[in-house]
Amino acid sequence: MKVLYAASEALPFIASGGLADVAGSLPQALRKRLVGCRVVLPLYSGIKQELRDTMKFVTSITVPVAWRRQYCGIFEARYDGVVYYLIDNEYYFKRDGLYGHYDDAERFAFFSRAVLEIIPHIGWKPDIIHCNDWQTGMTPVYYRTMYADSPDYSGIKTVFTIHNIQYQGIYGFDILQDVFGITAADGCLLDYRGNINIMKGAIECSSVVTTVSPTYAEEIRDPWFSHGLDPIINERAFKLTGILNGIDTKNYGPEEDPAIWEPYSADKPEGKAANKAELQEMFDLEIDPEKPVLGIVTRLVAHKGLDLVKTVFAEMMDTTDVQVVVLGTGDSEFENFFLWAADAYRGRVGVRLGFVPDYARKIYAGSDLFLMPSKSEPCGLAQMVALRYGSIPIVRETGGLRDTITDSGDGQGNGFTFKCYNAHDMLHAVRRAVSGYADKDGWRILVERAMNTDNSWSKSAGEYIKLYKGLL
Ligand code: GLC
Repeated sequence: MKVLYAASEALPFIASGGLADVAGSLPQALRKRLVGCRVVLPLYSGIKQELRDTMKFVTSITVPVAWRRQYCGIFEARYDGVVYYLIDNEYYFKRDGLYGHYDDAERFAFFSRAVLEIIPHIGWKPDIIHCNDWQTGMTPVYYRTMYADSPDYSGIKTVFTIHNIQYQGIYGFDILQDVFGITAADGCLLDYRGNINIMKGAIECSSVVTTVSPTYAEEIRDPWFSHGLDPIINERAFKLTGILNGIDTKNYGPEEDPAIWEPYSADKPEGKAANKAELQEMFDLEIDPEKPVLGIVTRLVAHKGLDLVKTVFAEMMDTTDVQVVVLGTGDSEFENFFLWAADAYRGRVGVRLGFVPDYARKIYAGSDLFLMPSKSEPCGLAQMVALRYGSIPIVRETGGLRDTITDSGDGQGNGFTFKCYNAHDMLHAVRRAVSGYADKDGWRILVERAMNTDNSWSKSAGEYIKLYKGLL
């Protein structure tokens, strides 16, 4: 079985969010299970020189973008046993940042088309093309409307994975032919409420649709979660499944993480205390092993539940002895709030605005508690990483948070959860966690159980393979 995995970002090359983690670890997990999986992604200028140095030029072709024909260089790299194809076009990809340019529709129409166009030139015809999010959502649409009948392509099945339904790729209908090169007759595939909606087109045209947790697969059938797409999701529910993401347990783990101060493990957890002391020092907190440190590592945006944090922050600081460490960047409302909090609660709150992966790892290792009160969370990777590092997640029961964290109230779970999107319900969960922390023996057992939770790809990779086999 051969799978071409198309994504707009993948580690180790380039990352802006969780998709890059998945695209950088699922293909390896598939390969270990003897599935031929290759990855295709854009060659952004942000990709570091040392990785570029490992790339080999394969060939160059031109790719149609409606009436244009655009240069497309194909580079090949090998990483951890997996072959990557990098699509080169400096006009589209020599830019600052990955997304958010005025012509993203055209940039990713080009990329989605290139995914198909390179196939005869790489000497490797996939059985499955697995696309991810709207940036590769045009691939199934082009496949259905332009490629399915040609001998170079016939019989290929397409899989489309929704990592976050909030970002759909919505554009004015007037660019249907000029940018996407889709005929008026096929326009109905992309048409949603009078606009082009690439995610809708991908859902219509792919053989199957997946999303990144079973709970999210149910949730997006509901308008509260669907960002307007629930009628389409419900209509196509017969081809939708939720498969929980895994994490790369080799990359994330306190046993040998060069970013943390002292290695430790579930069997030898002593080193965690040193990480905590270093973290307290780094964030100018009072260095005290008895005070529970609560970590928040997130994009600072509303759907991550930060309005809940803001609402009860003062109450939390007044009624518990928790210390808080925040890392992230985002909306100025939350950036300003946390800067204020660091000033108002000196020695108890430390904040770094920005995103430095090494700092995130230091927080996982040095914190006792990890807060993710998301309004919605398709899967969420940070809670799984926090478990690995023995930082106990406090989460709202939504999406993948619900599927990975169970409340330890009954003496069995691996974290603390709350159901309703309500600030005091969250605060109550934090209080339960803080009093749990005071029971040293109970806490040690909880941390051990959390660290032993299996969130590797071992189970989910098998589920993808079953899905692919079902298609063939
Ligand atoms: C998106 C989702 C996140 C998920 C990630 C990887 O970033 O918001 O919940 O973990 O994709 O699938």
